[in-house]
Amino acid sequence: MPQAMQETGAAAPAGLLALITGFMPARVVHAAAELGLADLLVAGVNTAASLARETGAHAPSLHRLLRALASLGLVDETEPGRFALTPLGTQLRRDVPGSQRNLALMFGGERSWRCWGALLHSVRTGEAAMQPVYGMGSFEYLAAHPDAAVVFNAAMAEITRQVARAVVAAYDFARFRRIVDVGGGNGTLLAAILAAAPGLRGIVFDLPAGNAEAPRLLAAAGLTQRAEVVAGDFFQAVPEGADAYILKSVIHDGDDGDSIAILKSCRKAIVKAGRLLLVERVMPERMEASPAHQRMAMLDMNMLALPGGRERTEAEYRALFEAARFALERVLPLPEGGGLSLIEAAPI
Ligand SMILES: C[S@@+](CC[C@H](N)C(=O)[O-])C[C@H]1O[C@@H](n2cnc3c(N)ncnc32)[C@H](O)[C@@H]1O
Repeated sequence: MPQAMQETGAAAPAGLLALITGFMPARVVHAAAELGLADLLVAGVNTAASLARETGAHAPSLHRLLRALASLGLVDETEPGRFALTPLGTQLRRDVPGSQRNLALMFGGERSWRCWGALLHSVRTGEAAMQPVYGMGSFEYLAAHPDAAVVFNAAMAEITRQVARAVVAAYDFARFRRIVDVGGGNGTLLAAILAAAPGLRGIVFDLPAGNAEAPRLLAAAGLTQRAEVVAGDFFQAVPEGADAYILKSVIHDGDDGDSIAILKSCRKAIVKAGRLLLVERVMPERMEASPAHQRMAMLDMNMLALPGGRERTEAEYRALFEAARFALERVLPLPEGGGLSLIEAAPI
């Protein structure tokens, strides 16, 4: 056992060593997601030998992986050598409410892993790791790698499904006639908003690789009469004349220059009495050692390494808005919104 491990003791999961080795559980969860273990376990394939046959894995090593998953609370060893999913592990199943399988595939996938591996480069230079690692930005990469785009869009939707409930609970969308979800991905947020405001019409605006799945999702939600899917580039222009423009997890993808450019596109398009709505994390002015702040700070590092964006404080959002001729009106923290807030601004 390494010296450090002896000093902290096996029963001391917290502390510096837990931070140093923090990537290990993430890799274990990613391996389980890639192998599709959760769906197999539910289908009754519940021993290392049978799971190894289904997945083509090495049975003794898979047994060790299952034991690691048991230590993380994702499976239970119900009798020697037999495993069952726990409620936490159930979230690694595909297509169940609350599934986080695509998030596990995305954060544990090659692109995220290699870019986080180059975090030091980003800190030294300010350059998103996507450039030195892949020679292109995140969304160029997704356009060139359709399989990765499918996982990315589905992972975004896994977060957005939960957040969408919090957004419609916190804000009255019935006051608007037409809304554009800019960078709206597969339409998960727009579908929830239109369901909450029956008189409202909406557009999911995104790159072709971003909103390819939106027509299917909106049709399944019975919203084809009120929802349109439009492909385009928000640096060029966004659909004109709506009274609400909502952007969830879009502005944090960019540096200040890109973010102001996107907001200016919205400013050109919005009607005079319209409202701009961002769904983003609002960073505290001063960081504390708390789980909530830690989560925001880690996602800020993710933005630095991958798309080259950032999480921002309220003052930083206010400054972005002013540069694009909007004024911040209010910030509504979203209970049950995973640390996100709804930020409302008006054109000036
Ligand atoms: C982090 S995702 C957020 C997706 C969605 N709003 C959500 O929260 O689930 C950012 C979105 O911006 C889109 N995007 C990136 N660059 C874009 C561009 N130049 N024009 C339009 N959309 C773009 C991406 O395709 C992606 O769907």
